[in-house]
Amino acid sequence: MTRKGILATYEKFLPLTEKTPRLSLCEGDTPLLSLRHLGTELGIDLLAKYDGLNPTGSFKDRGMVLAVAKALEEGARAIVCASTGNTSASAAAYGAAAGIPCFVLLPAGQVAAGKLAQALLYGARVLAVRGNFDRALELARLAAGEREMALVNSLNPYRLFGQRSGAWEICDELCSPPDWLILPVGNAGNISAYCAGFEFYREIGRIDKLPRLFGVQADGAAPLVRGFEIDTPETLATAIRIGRPVSADKARRAVEVTKGQFLSVTDDEILDAQRALASGEGVFAEPASCAPLAALRKLKAQGKLPEGIRVVMVLTGNGLKDPDAVIHRIPLPEEIDGTWEALSAALEL
Ligand code: F0G
Repeated sequence: MTRKGILATYEKFLPLTEKTPRLSLCEGDTPLLSLRHLGTELGIDLLAKYDGLNPTGSFKDRGMVLAVAKALEEGARAIVCASTGNTSASAAAYGAAAGIPCFVLLPAGQVAAGKLAQALLYGARVLAVRGNFDRALELARLAAGEREMALVNSLNPYRLFGQRSGAWEICDELCSPPDWLILPVGNAGNISAYCAGFEFYREIGRIDKLPRLFGVQADGAAPLVRGFEIDTPETLATAIRIGRPVSADKARRAVEVTKGQFLSVTDDEILDAQRALASGEGVFAEPASCAPLAALRKLKAQGKLPEGIRVVMVLTGNGLKDPDAVIHRIPLPEEIDGTWEALSAALEL
């Protein structure tokens, strides 16, 4: 099957009219990889929804394509968002594809280099706000209200609508939902979208049960695990460095109706998981995306991971977006003289 993009593939399930431009960068239809080595280690059937292979390298494209198409349909003059990085890259790309100006507000000094480069190169007007993501989002909401720009954060219902496609693709491919779906949680939109996607498929009879949804946060930015908002969230997984998730209520409901749970892991556990995923399976995901694997390993160590269940882990963002998170923590390449003798000595297995 050729890739057609979310709007064409799920036309019937999305709120499209004949006036909605059929925007596409061929987002979606990402691989569902079987992670055999890690699965064996954990005693489960482990699959990864590799959403880092979307056009801008993250799951955000699934919802952004619809949000920007709708902004065009509704005659918006510009789009605006706040972002820890990936939303801004996606908004900037779809803004460029749609020919609509894009403003992005980033927490100054807290965005991975790849994501910043993307937003700048796709031609967005990038503003680095002195403050954290939560403050940047308050300002973006203000801008949308004051200047009649379309806000394309996940507060925009079309974003979450498009992101339901992740759940649909998984069910379409497996012909049934997994036992568990585990994903990182920041602003809490994606877990809410997955829940809505699975619930919709159950409503129309495509599946007969919901998977249990597990949302994973970083210890230093875990408002949903702790049960209160965090004023100064801290984690090296900058994508999920969020203290006041706007979709907190929806996310709590998602976990409740599916009998799931919120979990948190340390930055060190995230980095260990990132390395295990890369060196054990050949898959490079950004730190935030590795929080779920870290949580599964922790549950296993605590004897809380049921044997033999099928678990889908959503790899939300590509590892190439944030090399700085790892480059100072791994051994640098060994330098050798440009001679056969030196090479020969180094080729010991
Ligand atoms: N994983 C990655 C790679 C992300 O970029 C984000 C969120 C999440 C997980 C969490 O998803 O917010 O729906 O709970 N990134 C947003 C951004 C906040 O601005 O790019 P969520």
